[in-house]
Amino acid sequence: MSFELALRQAAQETDALLDRLLPLEASPARRIMEAVRYAALGPGKRLRPFLLVEAASLFDVPRQQSLRAGAALECIHCYSLVHDDLPAMDDDDLRRGRPTTHKAFDEATAILAGDALLTFAFEILSAAETHPDATIRVALVSGLAKAAGQAGMVGGQMLDIEAETQANSNLSDIVRIQSLKTGALFRFACEAGAVLGAGDPAPLRRYADSIGLAFQIADDILDVESTPEALGKATQKDKGMGKATFVDLLGLDGARQKARRLVDEAVAALAPYGPKADLLADAARFIVARRK
Ligand code: IPE
Ligand code: IPE
Ligand code: MG
Ligand code: MG
Ligand code: MG
Repeated sequence: MSFELALRQAAQETDALLDRLLPLEASPARRIMEAVRYAALGPGKRLRPFLLVEAASLFDVPRQQSLRAGAALECIHCYSLVHDDLPAMDDDDLRRGRPTTHKAFDEATAILAGDALLTFAFEILSAAETHPDATIRVALVSGLAKAAGQAGMVGGQMLDIEAETQANSNLSDIVRIQSLKTGALFRFACEAGAVLGAGDPAPLRRYADSIGLAFQIADDILDVESTPEALGKATQKDKGMGKATFVDLLGLDGARQKARRLVDEAVAALAPYGPKADLLADAARFIVARRK
């Protein structure tokens, strides 16, 4: 199957599952579920669930299990976007080609929708449908908690904000920030496949480290080179906010070169899996070639 088709299929399955898991009627406070559904069901790429499903398929994990873990991860990702866009953080009005959640609703509702998505991720993972073995479910819950929390994505977001007011971030500062704020969720996506299939996560971790970094470099390049119409979110933001990015440090060409090297490293890390990992190799190439 082609990468494009495989990504589209995983996205459709993830959307259908999230739609089912987040029913409007179930909530005692309808407005919060309206905002949750707005944030979670918007037109995102669903790249993290795709990676999780593909990594799990290396270990022959049933797809309904990996899709649930992917949906949980997407809930965390969507919450991180809702909060990232808030006025106190990046203060953005446009996300996925539509008004950000706090613009479509209001700030308090957006904060609560983020909280609801964050906690809902763990409700999904801890349910027996995700895996019959409770030990595996606990490993997933613990892995996602660490990836999302202060030692992972949230910690990276804190360092990202702190770097705005610190002069001269160097390359190792930027690698550290990005490997937490973006890399941690990519690491979970890939490692969760091995956890579900009780396999060795080490090669997938190396792959994830490279694509996570490459992904954020591409995001930073698109911030400079793209347009809000093409990207579905504001551009030319990072310089204005004084963000520490690879583009800032290496220039556009240097950042592109670094991203290409990371793709080569990611593909090399997949060698132990042979042709079974071809779609993951394609995903690494897509991450730097993407236009949105
Ligand atoms: C954007 O992630 C946030 C970053 C980590 C740079 P995506 O580019 O995956 O966003 P969606 O989910 O496709 O909207
Ligand atoms: C955000 O990075 C990463 C998250 C943890 C949400 P950015 O702030 O660069 O993401 P965009 O450009 O707003 O999507
Ligand atoms: Mg940000
Ligand atoms: Mg942002
Ligand atoms: Mg960005």
